[in-house]
Amino acid sequence: MQLTPEQVQTGSDNFNEAVGYTRRSFLKGTVASAGGLGATYFGYDKLKGDPVRFGFIGTGDEGSVLLNEHPPEYMDIVAVADLRPTNRRRALEGDGNDVRQGLIRKLGNQKAQSIKLYANHKELLADPNVEAVVIAVPLSQHAPLAIEAMKAGKHVLTEKLMAHSISQCKEMIQVAKETNKLLAVGHQRHYSVLYDNANSVVRSGLLGDIKHIRAQWHRNNSFPGRDSWRKTIKDDDAKALKGKVQEFGYNSMDHLVNWRLYNETGGGLMAELGSHQLDACSIFLGKVHPIAVQGFGGRNFYGVKGVGSMDKQSDDREIDDHVYVTFEFPGLHYQDDPNDVVVVTYSSLNTNRLEPYGEQVFGSRGTMIVRQEQEALLYKEASPSTGPGGLEQRLHIISGKGGPVMDASESLAPSTQAATAASTIEKISRGYTEEMEHFCHCVRTNNFDTPQNGGLRCNGTVAMADAIMALTSNLAMRYKRRIEFKDEWFDPTNPATPEEDVKA
Ligand SMILES: NC(=O)c1ccc[n+]([C@@H]2O[C@H](COP(=O)([O-])OP(=O)(O)OC[C@H]3O[C@@H](n4cnc5c(N)ncnc54)[C@H](O)[C@@H]3O)[C@@H](O)[C@H]2O)c1
Repeated sequence: MQLTPEQVQTGSDNFNEAVGYTRRSFLKGTVASAGGLGATYFGYDKLKGDPVRFGFIGTGDEGSVLLNEHPPEYMDIVAVADLRPTNRRRALEGDGNDVRQGLIRKLGNQKAQSIKLYANHKELLADPNVEAVVIAVPLSQHAPLAIEAMKAGKHVLTEKLMAHSISQCKEMIQVAKETNKLLAVGHQRHYSVLYDNANSVVRSGLLGDIKHIRAQWHRNNSFPGRDSWRKTIKDDDAKALKGKVQEFGYNSMDHLVNWRLYNETGGGLMAELGSHQLDACSIFLGKVHPIAVQGFGGRNFYGVKGVGSMDKQSDDREIDDHVYVTFEFPGLHYQDDPNDVVVVTYSSLNTNRLEPYGEQVFGSRGTMIVRQEQEALLYKEASPSTGPGGLEQRLHIISGKGGPVMDASESLAPSTQAATAASTIEKISRGYTEEMEHFCHCVRTNNFDTPQNGGLRCNGTVAMADAIMALTSNLAMRYKRRIEFKDEWFDPTNPATPEEDVKA
């Protein structure tokens, strides 16, 4: 949705006003908290005891971001492993930007030089000084490495998507139980203050009856040099790894470096991008399991030879470059009435980025838009009984019969309450730091409990549900049909999986 700067400001003020109302007492607490904003929001404390001694496996694009965001008061990085010498160097020296500044700049030369650098995960897992690992390697290797790590006595925080198949997810959960190790997955929206506030707005009922959520992640890689998923193999890496990558589960150097493009190593747009948004949508819907999914996907750009003025050759990627999926989720009253369905549509494009990424929640009384993990906007539906609304309308939140409602009856200057909430929201991060802080807190407090009881918010079972949504939508696109989700897929103790149950 295209909005003017004034409309964005109005929507942002409205959202902050709503958060100020729905979280009044909670926001007061955040000011008093000693543990920081994330700690207050997600119910953990300053760490008691030494920071947890961590090894990072995989310091590519995402591993380097996590190194940058890691909280040294909670996490002591003692080792780093990467197959590629260029990425080991990058872990220390960074990229020359602030997103991946490197450990020397972040921690100082002395500490950075004391960190052990290993040439692969096996060497790192043999290091007895390492208590826990972050795994940020290609998708196909999440499960094998996480399982190896837990069996070697390490707690595991692995990047999303949890695994390449649901049977692997179930095995990971089983091994975590057997080895008594913590297992978390990095869907960072579970630790985003913005999403937590957005969720409180949805839960308050302000949006009314929600029937539709639209989410998208659109990029435009049609311009030369814009495809971040197709990388050049660096000479240093090729030389160091000649004849060795097979030992680590990759057919070739190309599969190691360009793993996102192939089915054997990646999970396509739904695993890489869609899983984030479906995670967000399902958070808004109370983490209920979806009813069914259908969709269309294709290699509609890279698979077509000589498109228009681009005159390019089709390339050898296997994954779709455009996907469109539709999920049915149960509404609040679904148990009594199967007509009560919320439809979530998701698209990911490679040829247009007018609307980059985000989620839009459409309710009978209002609309909430979350944009690029950075901001949320709120607008009221105009109605004969409750007055004006729309994109220009500043709102008061007042108490109604059944809970808070949006009031647009008088014109408003930004209120103090809105300003308080806004200043709190300015401090938010995307959730990486909080995800790592909470993980360390759970290690030190030995907390293996459920998210409801202060345990990991994105544990194996929670993350497996995200993987089921992403990977089943891939099956729906492959077989071109509507697939109903089965309860047993979501049960970690039941061997049933979508990949076994859904066949051509
Ligand atoms: N949470 C998010 O928002 C987010 C964003 C981007 C990527 N990710 C996830 O992070 C993971 C990594 O993505 P990326 O973009 O950093 O990929 P990348 O290819 O840039 O980096 C992966 C690194 O892992 C290394 N590696 C592979 N196997 C290894 C092994 N056995 N031992 C040691 N090192 C090994 C590779 O050499 C490479 O440097 C993926 O699962 C991806 O989905 C998450």
